[in-house]
Amino acid sequence: MTSIHPSILSADFANLAAELQRISSADAVHVDVMDNHFVPNLTLGLPVVKAIREATDLPLDIHLMIDDADRWAPEYSEAGCESVTFHIEAAARPKELARILRSHGSKAAMAVKPGTELEPHLEILSELDMLLIMTVEPGFGGQSFMEAMLPKITAARQAADDLGGTVAIQVDGGINRDTILRAAEAGADTFVAGSAVYSAADPDAAIAQLRKLIRG
Ligand code: DX5
Ligand code: ZN
Repeated sequence: MTSIHPSILSADFANLAAELQRISSADAVHVDVMDNHFVPNLTLGLPVVKAIREATDLPLDIHLMIDDADRWAPEYSEAGCESVTFHIEAAARPKELARILRSHGSKAAMAVKPGTELEPHLEILSELDMLLIMTVEPGFGGQSFMEAMLPKITAARQAADDLGGTVAIQVDGGINRDTILRAAEAGADTFVAGSAVYSAADPDAAIAQLRKLIRG
């Protein structure tokens, strides 16, 4: 099963409640938390995520691009976020962190930046519900999909299948009508799309178009 998670990074931050209503057909809302340390950009944090939690019934897929994930990620699962993704580059004890997130009732997910090798971190896979392969350098929306990440997506898919296929493989960055099929064919099943959804006049229609491309 495939899922489309629009990123509200490309939404109008002054009208978030209305912007959430424009993606009512989404499988989840992707929320990009950035701290200006792990990435060179600053977006929003826990208070705004809690407000988003109140403003929508859609599941929240939190993508933490922040240092000290061990300290902060559990706060998002405690706030009722369905899925919390930490970056492996920012977590000191990733296995323990994944267990904590799950113990709070969230899905636990790990992200890898484009320059981070997947192989050394695969032993944690059995503790995860989702693995995020970044297909741009994290920090900004509207960048181009990195074709060079396709083999990494396939390696992630293979590793997930070896475990019995319970781990979702998410891609984030540059996903649009031109790239989504290649990412799907490489093995991704969960697709983040920011600018491709929110630059459309009708974001729900853009979601339907993306879905059609991968589901036929
Ligand atoms: C980038 C974020 C993405 C971003 C994707 O660091 O993690 O979620 O919103 O935006 P697009 O889909 O425009 O590449
Ligand atoms: Zn993201």
